[in-house]
Amino acid sequence: MRQSSLVVVANRLPLDDNAAPDGACEWRRSPGGLASALHAILESTPATWVGWGGGVGSAPALPDIGTLRLRPMPLTEDELRGYYEGFANSTLWPLYHDAVEQPVFDRGWWETYRSVNRRFAEAAAEVAEPGAAVWVQDYHLQLVPQLLRDLRPDVLIGFFMHVPFPPPELFMQLPRRTELVRGMLGADLVGFQREQAAHNLAQLAEKLVAAEYTENTIRVDGRVVRTGAFPVSIDVTEMESLSARPYVRNQAHKLRHDLGAHKKVLLSVDRLDYTKGIEHRLTAYSELLRDGRLKVHDTVMVQVAVPSRERVESYRGLKDRIESEVGRINGEYGRVGEPAIHYLNQPFDRADLAALYQTADVMVVTPLRDGMNLVAKEFVAARGNDTGALVLSEFAGAAAELEDAFLVNPHDLDGLKETLLRALDADPADLARRMSAMRAHITDHDIHAWARAYLTALDHTGRLAQHLPRQRRSLARR
Ligand code: ADP
Ligand code: F6P
Repeated sequence: MRQSSLVVVANRLPLDDNAAPDGACEWRRSPGGLASALHAILESTPATWVGWGGGVGSAPALPDIGTLRLRPMPLTEDELRGYYEGFANSTLWPLYHDAVEQPVFDRGWWETYRSVNRRFAEAAAEVAEPGAAVWVQDYHLQLVPQLLRDLRPDVLIGFFMHVPFPPPELFMQLPRRTELVRGMLGADLVGFQREQAAHNLAQLAEKLVAAEYTENTIRVDGRVVRTGAFPVSIDVTEMESLSARPYVRNQAHKLRHDLGAHKKVLLSVDRLDYTKGIEHRLTAYSELLRDGRLKVHDTVMVQVAVPSRERVESYRGLKDRIESEVGRINGEYGRVGEPAIHYLNQPFDRADLAALYQTADVMVVTPLRDGMNLVAKEFVAARGNDTGALVLSEFAGAAAELEDAFLVNPHDLDGLKETLLRALDADPADLARRMSAMRAHITDHDIHAWARAYLTALDHTGRLAQHLPRQRRSLARR
């Protein structure tokens, strides 16, 4: 067994197996913020990534990606149901997202969640060389830090939560709340997207395991656990260079032509998830058409909703509701050759996503709650010419950074409608100022800066960050 000095443990590998049209297996980059973020930094870092490659049962060996080794974890049908679809995505996911959908507390799922976390911890223990750093990711694997510490007290353990971490009032609903908090506190450094989340953990640790805390430090069982906010980001250089490719420019040009060159294009790109606010957005758009404030002759919406967690009941219901609403809106307001909405329930490769981002006049990113939302940042990186508007929910982590977006409360339908109109009618000079300020921010705070900040906080010697490229510095300063 080859061992690494840096091990990443995440539920999913950055690749999904997809059946090609001829039935062969094709590996494709998985949609989702975590895969996008880590893929960017790990391609050039000697490390091993432990994770699930999609599918049920056996996990075939996978080729390395550059210097990155992949260690696939198989999941059985029962594990998929109890751990991934059950406890992770029907209990924790809705609870951590403000309970916008009712969390399900099924006692049977807990044991599976625990045993899968144990298997991930064992795999990490196997591939970590003596004194290695192991970086555990997200809510699927909250028990891994402590389980791993029990197996390998010599390794340095980091944990990063990509999704929101809720206030005690919500978290305390969880039947297994103490075990979950203890699991995370097995890490040396627990990172979040927002400082408030670190504060939530500190309060829970005090309440549930008699820990003591001061700012960004939790003392428990004679150990010190550090916490902090590390807002995740994107590979700005990758998105910029994709956007400059002739294929992407031609594709964007063609899309504009196909959508109607004179029309204003509203674009949304999400995983098909109830946290993303797709239904609220469709209602706002449909009311603007109903009220005659928008006309299909002048405006068109493109909603990309990549399939996600398709076997989970609440996701299936959402898909049915969205598809019926899109059908209703097109039926009522579309004309022959002029649909009100183009709905695309399919994955895209990065170049085609970049072309879509270049096509939009207004990018509409309106989640009801989101840890960060990388789509918002990708859109900004794709708009090198400082055109286009970003409408962004106040409840996305990205709103704390992209203050020059048109910020909106997506629950306030009238406010959302007004903001869409404001963004559609905005003065190009105002848009250029906003876009250039946002681009300067993400250039200074790209994915490499994120990884460097986290890994240097985990290990002050800097050895973990030594292979990361330096982030660029923007020329523009606010
Ligand atoms: P989440 O982590 O909840 O999925 P993010 O917005 O942070 O949300 O990240 C979504 C990631 O998935 C982005 O990097 C985006 O480019 C990618 N993505 C979204 N839609 C698609 C799609 N249709 N095809 C491929 N990738 C997609
Ligand atoms: O960012 C939250 C997250 O759960 C990530 O862990 C994951 O990359 C993404 O959403 C997609 O979800 P899934 O892996 O369930 O398809």
